Amino acid sequence: MAGFISKETIELVNSTTDIISLVGDYTKLERRTGNDWWGCCPFHNEKSASFHVDGDKKFYYCFGCHASGNAISFVMEMEKVDFSNAVESLAKKGGIQIKYENGYKPEEKKVDNSADQYIELYDRVASSFHYILTQTDQGKDALKYITERGLTKETIEKFKLGYSPSDRKWLKNFLKQKNFTDEFLNNSGLFSKNYKDIAFFSDRLMFPIYNRKGQTVAFGGRIIHPQGPEDRKYLNSGDLIQYKKRETLYAFNFAKKSIRENKKVIFCEGYMDCIAYHQCGIEYAVAPLGTALTEEQVNMVRGFADTVLLSFDSDSAGKNATYKAILMCRKNNLTVKVIRLKGAKDPAEIMLKYGKENLTSQVNGAILDSDYLLNILSEVYQTDTPEGKTKAALAFFPYIDSLQTDIQKESCLDQLSQAFNLKPEAVKRDFLNRNQARERISSRQNQNQTEKSKQINLNAELRGLIAVITDMDKFSILRSSLNESDFSNPDAKQLFTILEECFSRKTFSFPDILAACNDSSLVEIITSAISSGVYQNIDIEIVAKDTIKFVKRTQIDKRKNEILKELRECDLGTEEGNLKMNALLKEKLELDKQVQTL
Ligand code: UTP
Ligand code: MN
Repeated sequence: MAGFISKETIELVNSTTDIISLVGDYTKLERRTGNDWWGCCPFHNEKSASFHVDGDKKFYYCFGCHASGNAISFVMEMEKVDFSNAVESLAKKGGIQIKYENGYKPEEKKVDNSADQYIELYDRVASSFHYILTQTDQGKDALKYITERGLTKETIEKFKLGYSPSDRKWLKNFLKQKNFTDEFLNNSGLFSKNYKDIAFFSDRLMFPIYNRKGQTVAFGGRIIHPQGPEDRKYLNSGDLIQYKKRETLYAFNFAKKSIRENKKVIFCEGYMDCIAYHQCGIEYAVAPLGTALTEEQVNMVRGFADTVLLSFDSDSAGKNATYKAILMCRKNNLTVKVIRLKGAKDPAEIMLKYGKENLTSQVNGAILDSDYLLNILSEVYQTDTPEGKTKAALAFFPYIDSLQTDIQKESCLDQLSQAFNLKPEAVKRDFLNRNQARERISSRQNQNQTEKSKQINLNAELRGLIAVITDMDKFSILRSSLNESDFSNPDAKQLFTILEECFSRKTFSFPDILAACNDSSLVEIITSAISSGVYQNIDIEIVAKDTIKFVKRTQIDKRKNEILKELRECDLGTEEGNLKMNALLKEKLELDKQVQTL
């Protein structure tokens, strides 16, 4: 591909691109001398600036991870595109006409620019929804609804909120009149998967989701006229060619400047909360999109912010999200604080009830993550008993693991011993013993590969359950197909019973679950697995479904083995024996069929 674009164009793109502002869009750069700029490397995790950009020579080099190159390679790395796409995107920005080698005509090239085309479509649809919300009768209820929730006209304009008509055929007809083809529209994610003329969003308040450049790439839609409890409050676009949920933060396009200036970012719960922060002048707020905070999203802000403020709900799900986010941000060397709202359930409600100043002062009163965690632990455990103290300490250890320097670790161990009135030496000893025990286990596993795979195999049930603890909402998937007696592994049985209890009591935050474990080795296994971070980037729903499959398959295999044994023992000389054999063979066939459907 590279060969098609002329050398001349490539050189022109390289020499005219302002590499400082290009890189500066991803990490904060400071001028040292002349046109030499330094910042934290956008390609690896660091706290002191070792990333050097030379504005005259137009290259970058990282003294930490040795990443290096020019504007084109930077775009390739950052946007994950190939060489010609990177050149094209820079040329477009710089208003450069691309010349091709040897009479090669770009028309012949089948470029995959459908992402751009879909962005155009989404921008257009967002404008139509916005028009319908603000200018037509159809949008009246939705407009009244958000106005009553305190959103101003300016906010509605800025976020380009909209309304999707209740007539579910309207959108397709409207877009077909604009000469979009059926095939293009059917793949746009704007229509029902099964009924391609039916709009996915209808009668909903629409939140356009923007990429970092401020282009519309997806939508979230809030229900306006709920009919029954089965109606989802929010519907969200799934992943699309132009939209990857894990790599997008809602409102990042609006927040970027403020994040850079304040060196802070707020991660909050959703569209409305994020908009409330912005309307109150706290413009460094962004929201992950319907999933737990991801590593990619943390990477997006790492170059700009030193401090992360977490603003999730105070219910169990929110507490879990907070716990996971604390570990992830700490591992990425960010300082973490937690906003604990008082007087209302979320920022949007604070804004409405008490106004901007109140919200601002609550943000300024955010507490350090260590204080937050110790607080939560003392609420959950009976920390006036030695047992409770031990459990609380074990639950706090993964946090200490996530800290990046020994000084921080030391001071948090001290904080832990003070909080629960424990001897500092004992706390340190326990912490170190635990780590050494873990290292011993892992080195033993490495020594013996066969033993390792056997062990993983044996523990798949248990590992599935531990994974589900990180996203307890998904536990309902497990309990709808399995019960405690289905598990073969006794520890998994025990843990399932505990989770079932917590779930039915609706006390399923991570500390709640640990508190319900009476088995310290189980607690140890759970905390070390979760703090190792292996569950951070996986879809727990898939894990839950796999676990069900695994458990069912194990049961079936077990029964099949029994059948084989019984078959061998059948006395074929007798009628009784033959009947029994037939019955067993039938049962085995039945089981084989069941395996197929898993
Ligand atoms: P909340 O239920 O806390 O909604 O979900 P909210 O933002 O406070 O909404 P309002 O204030 O009732 O309008 C928080 C976020 O979780 C996602 C959305 O991104 C939402 O903003 N969510 C929630 C969904 O994706 N689907 C749902 O059904 C509910
Ligand atoms: Mn809300």
